[in-house]
Amino acid sequence: MSMGTSKAVLHVLSGAVPQFLSSDLCSSNSDLVFYSKCLVKSVKKKGPKYLRSLKCSGMSGSQIGSYGCKCLGGGLYRNTTIDRLKLLSCKCQQAESVSGVDMGRGNEAWFVDNAKKLNLNGSIPEFEDVEKLKRENEASISNDKAGTGKSTFATASVDSFEEEAWELLQASMVYYCGSPVGTIAANDPTNSNVLNYDQVFIRDFIPSGIAFLLKGEYDIVRNFILHTLQLQSWEKTMDCHSPGQGLMPASFKVRTVPLDGDDLATEEVLDPDFGEAAIGRVAPVDSGLWWIILLRAYGKCSGDLSVQERVDVQTGIKMILRLCLADGFDMFPTLLVTDGSCMIDRRMGIHGHPLEIQALFYSALLCAREMLTPEDGSADLLRALNNRLVALSFHIREYYWIDMRKLNEIYRYKTEEYSYDAVNKFNIYPDQISPWLVEWMPNKGGYLIGNLQPAHMDFRFFSLGNLWAVASGLATTAQSHAILDLIEAKWTDLVAEMPFKICYPALEGQEWQIITGCDPKNTPWSYHNGGSWPTLLWQLTVACMKMNRPEIAAKAVSVAEKRLSRDKWPEYYDTKKARFIGKQSHLFQTWSIAGYLVAKLLLADPDAAKILTTEEDSELVNAFSCMISANPRRKRGPKSSKQTYIV
Ligand code: GLC
Repeated sequence: MSMGTSKAVLHVLSGAVPQFLSSDLCSSNSDLVFYSKCLVKSVKKKGPKYLRSLKCSGMSGSQIGSYGCKCLGGGLYRNTTIDRLKLLSCKCQQAESVSGVDMGRGNEAWFVDNAKKLNLNGSIPEFEDVEKLKRENEASISNDKAGTGKSTFATASVDSFEEEAWELLQASMVYYCGSPVGTIAANDPTNSNVLNYDQVFIRDFIPSGIAFLLKGEYDIVRNFILHTLQLQSWEKTMDCHSPGQGLMPASFKVRTVPLDGDDLATEEVLDPDFGEAAIGRVAPVDSGLWWIILLRAYGKCSGDLSVQERVDVQTGIKMILRLCLADGFDMFPTLLVTDGSCMIDRRMGIHGHPLEIQALFYSALLCAREMLTPEDGSADLLRALNNRLVALSFHIREYYWIDMRKLNEIYRYKTEEYSYDAVNKFNIYPDQISPWLVEWMPNKGGYLIGNLQPAHMDFRFFSLGNLWAVASGLATTAQSHAILDLIEAKWTDLVAEMPFKICYPALEGQEWQIITGCDPKNTPWSYHNGGSWPTLLWQLTVACMKMNRPEIAAKAVSVAEKRLSRDKWPEYYDTKKARFIGKQSHLFQTWSIAGYLVAKLLLADPDAAKILTTEEDSELVNAFSCMISANPRRKRGPKSSKQTYIV
């Protein structure tokens, strides 16, 4: 990728370099040019050994669009021209650069100390190093035990889990031009089949980012936010079709490639995957929503609002919003997506309006509303956002909610109601209430169902959607408490030996065949199909903190602590009670590690959860109650005169 191909230089990462951007920004970030130069001639010299040791695979022949970055001083500039390169795939992570230009405010010491401890000079810690540290920790624990008794043992071992988790998290950091920009999905030295787990996934980085923020390590989060922003408008295509502008990639990888016209030098490129290489070619709808949520958390935690105020960041927020708020054919205010567009990124029958996406959507809308700087051009967008927030929360609270009372109501539904004031609006046939649900629904508690379509309610309990509905306030206060009540009542189904089941129950038999397409990875009680994911601990903890019920999270953390470190931080567990490490589970899965750390940090400082939680303001509450009083389901008399819901 040559500098000559850059269209223009418009924006900079470092405040030291002047901004050229006019405030009158169009709706696209694609005109922003962002380019940085990193002189890596020395890397090339060490090339063959380095490449061999990192198992670089020659990919000549495959054409991959990628994003070049060369570092020059403190400024980063972006080149909009997409190079089609024959890439040598090579992870380039330079631990020595942790003390580089971007590491400010005393971060160096923490990283460097830890890097030294682990003798880090590459991205992946030697397995033996980690094991050695563990053994050392264990030895010191048993010494302690001998000397001071059981309680010390318990504290010491918990402390050592945390210590180990921090070391592993730090070892998973990925560097780009000398600065940390993310964490690798899994760092499992025993697994030769890494697939794309050597990439930085946007959704996986969120708990890492939050852990870093809570630890006061802001730079990696800032870099992640700004670099992924640059990938947002990358022109990726699948069979000549481009995804919507504003889509954030599912993941990206740092590659080292030969520099055009210079045999001795290489450059690093960020190579995003928008789903065009992902298994199943799934579109990562959640990435942009998580990006907005993390951006707000960064500002709240670090106090540095300059990132969210940047013109390119504001444009990035607006691009995501425009993509989500665009008119379509849909009758519902919920976001219409294909299967596998979120954490569950395989076919699992969650196409349509899955709860997880709606909870993230609501959360991202509230976060964006807080961060958007008012300007003339954004009034329409803000109006659309406000209207959507109200309609969305009404729709979810009203139609996704079930508890004993509502279930009984559905059980007695009349069908085929053609009218404006139908009670059974979506024409749900009561026979679809599954027998398991009749047994399972506790007397106290309730939850939001997984999906709602015409004549179909997906009654499965999806954890992330429910937990984030609590965290974001999409669920009402009463509903939020009821969700936590249900979690307590159904502890043996949702937690058992490892928190937290991704969904309940699993699809079995013919349902599994038809809905998953006979997916051997998603067999009953495994992976996405009722598997247990330790990473969900952090979302559980945020929800508990929001509702001031920390004891639930504390209990779940203590269950996790019994196994996580011993089992080498697996990605997921299998079986109904989460007794086995998952069939194809990666070990040293970063978001299992980071999820645990976030849970611990929040238990120690419950107030810190506020960087992630949101509340309705009075304007929205008023608009919502206006909508409630106009709902024909509650008010079945003659239609009242014209109602207006515009905020
Ligand atoms: C699996 C998960 C997905 C995650 C990815 C990387 O595909 O389903 O949610 O982002 O692994 O860990």
